[in-house]
Amino acid sequence: MREARVEEALGLLVCPCAVIGAKRGEVHDLTTVAWVTQESMDPPQITVALHPGRYVLELIRQAGEFVLSLLAHDQEEIAGFCGSHSGRDTDKIKALGIELEPSKEVHTPRLKRALANLECRVAGEYTSGDHVIVVGRVVAANTDPDLKPLLFYRYRITPWR
Ligand SMILES: Cc1cc2nc3c(=O)[nH]c(=O)nc-3n(C[C@H](O)[C@H](O)[C@H](O)COP(=O)(O)O)c2cc1C
Repeated sequence: MREARVEEALGLLVCPCAVIGAKRGEVHDLTTVAWVTQESMDPPQITVALHPGRYVLELIRQAGEFVLSLLAHDQEEIAGFCGSHSGRDTDKIKALGIELEPSKEVHTPRLKRALANLECRVAGEYTSGDHVIVVGRVVAANTDPDLKPLLFYRYRITPWR
């Protein structure tokens, strides 16, 4: 063991690579997130840490719901693009030709292909440090058991091997 910079050690937290989507009217944004975790079993809830400047946060607040899509090992392009463009000036879904389908319980459509889609209603929001922690009650989900996950590790988008 050796002393390390805090940032270096935090980069060793193995995070899922996901996109969070919210739709208000005809505007639908998808944004890459890695600071995601389950925080309650009963009821089933997750948290997502979003910087206050993210366009998707505006849509989540207006819609009161979101879909968190855990990406598969071969969906790096989606993670990279949705994490480097803002929905304020780019229709990311159109630009990538991402296929969607209706969700089961929320109005925001879900990805047709992903490791899992978690359909969530907003259960709370807390500002802490420089991010906003959004709590989502998971009200429906679907998965593809044949896919492997895409991860965020050492500050890199990393396919599961
Ligand atoms: C791998 C990766 C992980 C990211 N994780 C987060 C995150 O957890 N929270 C966040 O606020 N932004 C995160 N970002 C940055 C946003 O995805 C990025 O700023 C995006 O362009 C914001 O889009 P929007 O303005 O349409 O919401 C991440 C970016 C990448 C590439």
